[in-house]
Amino acid sequence: EKGTYAHYMLKEIDEQPFVIRNIIQKYQDDDNEIKLSDDIRAALNGADRLYIIAAGTSYHAGLVGKEMMEKAAGKPTEVHIASEFLYNQPLLSRNPLFIFISQSGETADCRGVLVNVKEAGHPSLTITNVPGSTLSREADYTLHTYAGPEIAVASTKAYTAQMAVLAVLAMDSARAAFGDTEFDAIYELSIAANAMEVLCDAKDDMEQIARDYLFETRNAFFIGRSFDYHVVQEGALKLKEISYIQAEGFAGGELKHGTIALIEDGTPVIAVVTQENVELNTRGNLQEVVARGAHPCVVSMEGCHREDDQVVIPSVHPYLTPLVSVVPLQLISYYAALHHGCDVDKPRNLAKSVTVE
Ligand code: F6R
Repeated sequence: EKGTYAHYMLKEIDEQPFVIRNIIQKYQDDDNEIKLSDDIRAALNGADRLYIIAAGTSYHAGLVGKEMMEKAAGKPTEVHIASEFLYNQPLLSRNPLFIFISQSGETADCRGVLVNVKEAGHPSLTITNVPGSTLSREADYTLHTYAGPEIAVASTKAYTAQMAVLAVLAMDSARAAFGDTEFDAIYELSIAANAMEVLCDAKDDMEQIARDYLFETRNAFFIGRSFDYHVVQEGALKLKEISYIQAEGFAGGELKHGTIALIEDGTPVIAVVTQENVELNTRGNLQEVVARGAHPCVVSMEGCHREDDQVVIPSVHPYLTPLVSVVPLQLISYYAALHHGCDVDKPRNLAKSVTVE
């Protein structure tokens, strides 16, 4: 039930802090240790390389998962678009573990890969919001994202939930690999949940940004580097699928290799700046487009913010910034769609679960 909310999407955006806290509870035992079955632990630790397979928003969560796995746990990880992997399989390592990320657990492109993976005898784990779904039943192991039913076609809370579960896996793998880890995912997720709540309370500001930047435009660009690059790809997908504004998310350094030709007077360019090591690079990229007339909007994080940035998110662990920085992007997309008179929860041409290839 969407209760007093005008749309499921807005309700589901708002639920995100609770979902993250729920995941913390579900993945912690009474001794505050991470709760994972021995089988799943053995599968993770026994693999020499993880292959994350997903589509759309879940693929974007996978991109962040790879970063966490490699940076926190030193575990080599690849992320693949399911429909690509299906017909153009890369070389595999000796002991791969396949991780399917799917909100619905029904995505046909993922299922196709899973069938092949099983036939080849490789182990598989599904991270899904729907235990009992096809991908969950057919994989060797399942982890639940506990986000509750996601009704809006545009995925929001499933995305942040997927990244939270991947953070827990990264922490557990780091412990297994190094004995201990500086990445306390459980603690850092609770900080991130609080930060998400702050952004959920800033709806009026996000509505104003949507009005100022996206009311009269046909296209918009998003830029970021590192973790921020992954989240801007998700921000662009959200905007285009519900508002029909053509939007793309780019690595900050890539615009000038072609796409900058599209920048005109007033073209919105939304930059996400949360990673200290690339802050100045992204700000430099923004200057390049501003010099060509772009209308810049900056979503930054405390610690690498400037006074005139449009949105400043509270400081969180650098691996978890996408969980927080995506919230303003989701809200801006929601209000842009609303202002354009679009059917927010049921965008044209889209289905909630894509059960055909
Ligand atoms: C975007 C969106 C889609 C899904 C994609 C995968 O908002 O909802 O891109 O993320 O179709 O779906 P699942 O996660 O169910 O496999």
